[in-house]
Amino acid sequence: MKLPANAPFPRNFLQIVAIVVVVCTPIAWGWRSFKVIFTSFPYTYNSNVIDAKLQIHNSSSDTYLSVALQVNEVLDDVYLKYAIALDLDEGNYTVLANRTVNFCKFLKQHSMDSVLRIIYEDILKEGNFIKKCPITKGLYTLREYHIDEEMLPSYVPEASFYAAMKISKANGQVLFDGKLYGKIDKSKGFNNLKMFSLG
Ligand SMILES: *[C@@H]1O[C@H](CO)[C@@H](O)[C@H](O)[C@H]1NC(C)=O
Ligand SMILES: *[C@@H]1O[C@H](CO)[C@@H](O)[C@H](O)[C@H]1NC(C)=O
Ligand SMILES: *[C@@H]1O[C@H](CO)[C@@H](O)[C@H](O)[C@H]1NC(C)=O
Repeated sequence: MKLPANAPFPRNFLQIVAIVVVVCTPIAWGWRSFKVIFTSFPYTYNSNVIDAKLQIHNSSSDTYLSVALQVNEVLDDVYLKYAIALDLDEGNYTVLANRTVNFCKFLKQHSMDSVLRIIYEDILKEGNFIKKCPITKGLYTLREYHIDEEMLPSYVPEASFYAAMKISKANGQVLFDGKLYGKIDKSKGFNNLKMFSLG
């Protein structure tokens, strides 16, 4: 599906995200007529400080992300820059969010960034990911993370998206830089209860 260039979609999307944030608990059960699929995740990292291994799994019936992050240095002043964009117009990405947050402050107070909060609290449910600063040396993992389609509004357009993230120290030294690409697939009209095939 292709939306006209002047479609009011992005603003509605943000409003709906805001409502989801306010309501906060995912009380609404119901199926979604789309699936979020991860397609690639190019990344680079600073091997003097961390070792990062990110894998997306992408088969016809399942899609998930696994992360193993080995931190080799105590980190206590870390910044996260992220951007989320949807491709509504064949190659023209519409940026829905583009922010830099003080990651250590965010870990103390998730409410300071409502979009990140929804995603990060979902991530913390699976595996042992970073919960506070200083970030101690050690291995942080995220196993088979699936995007919970229930987090998203029931209406989203069929579109590709990316989520870019860059983690830096206060002095500007980049520790991690990656971009997760995926797409919202409605092509089969499937719902979450059924298996589906990409054909
Ligand atoms: C994942 O699936 C998409 C099709 O939806 C395909 O284009 C892409 O190459 C696949 N990536 C991997 C890593 O299998
Ligand atoms: C992206 O949008 C611009 C201006 O709106 C247009 O000229 C261009 O053709 C679009 N690119 C693609 C790949 O559709
Ligand atoms: C985010 O905003 C900065 C400037 O504030 C800009 O340089 C950058 O290109 C933007 N990123 C995206 C993905 O739009």
